Amino acid sequence: MLEELEKLQLQAFAELESAVDSRELEQWRICYLGKKSRLTQVLRSLSTLPLDERRNTGARANTIKKSLENALEERGHSLETSRLVLSLENKRVDITLPGYPMPIGRSHPTTQTIEEICQVFQKMGFQVFEGPDVEWDYYNFEALNIPADHPARDMFATFWIDSNRGKRNRLLRTHTSPMQIRVMEHTPPPIRIIVPGRCYRYEATDTTHESMFYQVEGLAVDKNITMADLKGTLFDFCRCIFGEERKVRFRCDYFPFVEPGVEIAIECLACHGNGCRICGYSGWIEILGAGMVNPDVLRRVGIDPEVYSGFAFGLGVERVPMLRYGIDDIRLFYNNDIRFLRQF
Ligand code: PHE
Repeated sequence: MLEELEKLQLQAFAELESAVDSRELEQWRICYLGKKSRLTQVLRSLSTLPLDERRNTGARANTIKKSLENALEERGHSLETSRLVLSLENKRVDITLPGYPMPIGRSHPTTQTIEEICQVFQKMGFQVFEGPDVEWDYYNFEALNIPADHPARDMFATFWIDSNRGKRNRLLRTHTSPMQIRVMEHTPPPIRIIVPGRCYRYEATDTTHESMFYQVEGLAVDKNITMADLKGTLFDFCRCIFGEERKVRFRCDYFPFVEPGVEIAIECLACHGNGCRICGYSGWIEILGAGMVNPDVLRRVGIDPEVYSGFAFGLGVERVPMLRYGIDDIRLFYNNDIRFLRQF
């Protein structure tokens, strides 16, 4: 039996050398060290042998088992190492190859427009502020002279967020005007601020209306501010943004928080005033509402309207690039179509 074991060991070693992957190693293990292998059989049957033979054979069988196990482990290691070396060889990176050019990103056209608008007003001495998108009824309506049942609420189809004992009180701001109140509450005049920000209206969308859009609010409060300041400031702004030649229309409008209220429209570029889809066949596109701050609004925030006066305006941001480039649908801005965005 001893002789058989020696032969077995030699054969096992020879075969192990020719195993080249983990699958073949496993087959080898089952064959020479597995439950049904000859070696295991011999070890199991030791008890049936006569005592002196049992001792010799047992000791030898156990050493052979050990040496086969060790050899298996070693072979495993060396196969793993050569596999690694080989894969490193194959996957070697050629650092002399030229890289792939990375496309350069850019700001969204709305962001670019806001930055430009802010720059124009900053040069005139306005400071930039921002406010929350989620607003209280008080700031969005009440303090702006639009109490609960005021018909002017119909101008602002509102996304309500929650209500308190049946009274609705939180909403997504429908305009940036609530920031007029937030600033005047804490800042004594003189005030010159602009506020870019997102606004929301619960309305069907069309080519000139989106349910989410941007405005830039402006507010100036000081002694002796008049309608001439409003007109001068806003006409200067229009000339900076649209050029000297572009026609500007200035006429009356109504907003509860200003008195008098006005509206500014710019001649439609696409049809040069003849009327087209972009301007709703009127030849003009309204870009902002404005007016002299209503004395009631000033009084509510503790500013004496006998001493101070002010003007305010709210500008539709997307209308600016639409007018400049003849973009005929505001919804293009937020579809994230890269072919559109790439052009700015
Ligand atoms: N908040 C008004 C709107 O969204 C615009 C506006 C602002 C009008 C300031 C007057 C003064 O329609």
